[in-house]
Amino acid sequence: MPELQIIQVSDPEDDRQHDFVEVYKEAFARAPYFEVYESDQEILEIWHDHVVYGTVFLAVLDGQAVGLITTHDPLDNVDPEIRDHFLEMISECPFDPSFAVFISEHAVHSKAEGRGIGTRLLEQALLWAKNQGLGLFAMCTAHQGSNSEHLYRSVGAEEAVELVQYVENPAGNSQSKQRIYLWGVIDTALQVIKRKQERRAGSSTT
Ligand SMILES: CC(C)(COP(=O)(O)OP(=O)(O)OC[C@H]1O[C@@H](n2cnc3c(N)ncnc32)[C@H](O)[C@@H]1OP(=O)(O)O)[C@@H](O)C(=O)NCCC(=O)NCCS
Repeated sequence: MPELQIIQVSDPEDDRQHDFVEVYKEAFARAPYFEVYESDQEILEIWHDHVVYGTVFLAVLDGQAVGLITTHDPLDNVDPEIRDHFLEMISECPFDPSFAVFISEHAVHSKAEGRGIGTRLLEQALLWAKNQGLGLFAMCTAHQGSNSEHLYRSVGAEEAVELVQYVENPAGNSQSKQRIYLWGVIDTALQVIKRKQERRAGSSTT
């Protein structure tokens, strides 16, 4: 079994930007998103903005990236749409966005899904945020009932009801018509992840 590495990218010119694009396109081309990208440029901009202004972690197996997670400050200018949405909703926001990390993209290629890689990526992003002094996390995902919703709720995230978006076509190229915001406490999520990993390790040795 090849060893999984989680690496943080610091160079926007890193060659793994091409793996990032491939994983991103493959993961979001599936249900419930069915996103279509005419060119790779839009995804390369997400890569670039997050490497420069936020964080990008990649899950690497056998030298190839098979998963990604990106974060940024919810009030910064990486994604003006998300920032503006937060600013609009801030009076009703059930958590303090200045104390939260925003998990903006999270994806694992289908060939590597269901093996704990998504959870490992989340753990790294949360550990990074904790080291920055943050205590909460927030994320936005499509469609109630998606596996990302399952993953985030399983680590203690709750739906920020006021922040549900019912929009015709949020990404302009996606068939998913609804976004929900989930938020939670970093320490709680890290404890749950640790227990899950211990269970996983226990079941693989029995
Ligand atoms: C969400 C995603 C990143 C999870 O990656 P992953 O590597 O499969 O995650 P894990 O293997 O760590 O599994 C996490 C949990 O999801 C569950 N899960 C994984 N694949 C699933 C599936 N197809 N259906 C239902 N649950 C699933 C696992 O059972 C696990 O739950 P558990 O810990 O309670 O057992 C991946 O499914 C994905 O890329 N989805 C498409 C993109 C997306 O929705 N991104 C999130 C919004 S930005």
